[in-house]
Amino acid sequence: MPTTVIIGLQWGDEGKGKIVDFMAAQVDVVARFSGGVNACHTVVVDGTETRFSLVPSGALRPGITLVLADGVMIEPFNLTREINRLRDNHGFDVKRLLIGRNAIVTMPYHIRLDQACEKEAGQYAIGTTGWGIGPTRVDHVARQGVRIFEYLNPDFMKEGMLARVRQGLTPAWLLVRMLGMLYYSEEIYDEIRETLSGCITDTASFLNKAIDSGQHVLFEGAQGTLLDLVYGFYPYVTSSHTLAGSACIGTGVGPTKITAVVGVAKAYSTRVSRGPLPTEVSGDERSSLVELGQEFRHTTDIPLRVGWLDLVTLRYAVRLNTISSIALTKLDVLDAFDEIKVCVAYKRKEQVYTDLPPDLGCVEYEPVYEILKGWKSSCTEARGHADLPPQAQAYLHFIEGFVGVPIRIVSVGRDRSQTFYLGDET
Ligand code: IMP
Repeated sequence: MPTTVIIGLQWGDEGKGKIVDFMAAQVDVVARFSGGVNACHTVVVDGTETRFSLVPSGALRPGITLVLADGVMIEPFNLTREINRLRDNHGFDVKRLLIGRNAIVTMPYHIRLDQACEKEAGQYAIGTTGWGIGPTRVDHVARQGVRIFEYLNPDFMKEGMLARVRQGLTPAWLLVRMLGMLYYSEEIYDEIRETLSGCITDTASFLNKAIDSGQHVLFEGAQGTLLDLVYGFYPYVTSSHTLAGSACIGTGVGPTKITAVVGVAKAYSTRVSRGPLPTEVSGDERSSLVELGQEFRHTTDIPLRVGWLDLVTLRYAVRLNTISSIALTKLDVLDAFDEIKVCVAYKRKEQVYTDLPPDLGCVEYEPVYEILKGWKSSCTEARGHADLPPQAQAYLHFIEGFVGVPIRIVSVGRDRSQTFYLGDET
């Protein structure tokens, strides 16, 4: 049985949740391996939208075991709320959820610190989601983080916690003292413990056994390759590893057990906040992409930054993740355009760069575009390659030719039903 990793190839928000839900029709286990409460994965089934932040996006498929593996940063308060919402709206049974005992906890003071730092940084802010991801990672690396099984142990939180934060390399204990927040009220803490305690286990053993016994396991990433702490456009990155390689660290499953890597890319580019977006557009092109793609920050009316598809960064991401195939989302958003631009190189002072220049982000590069013909008709009803207009087929073909891997899944609308395989369902 395949063990497939799903990751984002751009700046996040590529539609990974939708693709995980789609592929989950054929799997036994979905295991999320990175990121934290900063993620928002949206799945629409028969017109009903469900948002996931921590719970794996396979939750709407009955019978699947869901894993929050050790590489995920757990924010227990919001995870409990998410589980309760899923229980109320979908009859979700928390017994289906396993949480890796070593997963590190995002504490309330991490969230406060993230928001305070961003505010203080003013025009130099990274533009984080404000969910405490950076400070959680700093404490983790400084060996003063709290693992979820420790967090759920009241004795540790009373006795061991202060020793832990004083042991490390950064003055987290100062924060704990100043903000006075080890955890929420007793009542909320008790509810969190009641909800999550039964989920904590050795998920690495569970996943290895599941794979060895022939189960089909899907590893779900978060954010996108260009937000990776090492390979993204640093410092405008998240504080985790978003690449396929981190599925191994994040789950405790070795690389020889991974059989395929699916990279999810949008048919154009978007970015939530600051940092390089080489193909960014303005004016009418921007308004069209924002409106047609409904590109707004989750639950707000703040538009995302948008641009044409950047094949130079896409090929970079394909290489970094050793992608087997691409799932291309939101193709329908391009339905209305006369012409579709794709960036095939960058230019600076008459010199053309077909690969990512090492100083991109520090100096300005101009995108070099190939202009393709638009299809000017709706592809939202397409359910296979033959249903797509010839110009849309040509668009897919052009992308495949440039990045050197096949597109195997296409999405032409928000609903689960508007997703299809281009060939075999593998
Ligand atoms: P953080 O992960 O909250 O620290 O934010 C760091 C950077 O990653 C910021 O540019 C965020 O906008 C971006 N980011 C984090 N999570 C997501 C996501 O799920 N989608 C898109 N961008 C994200």
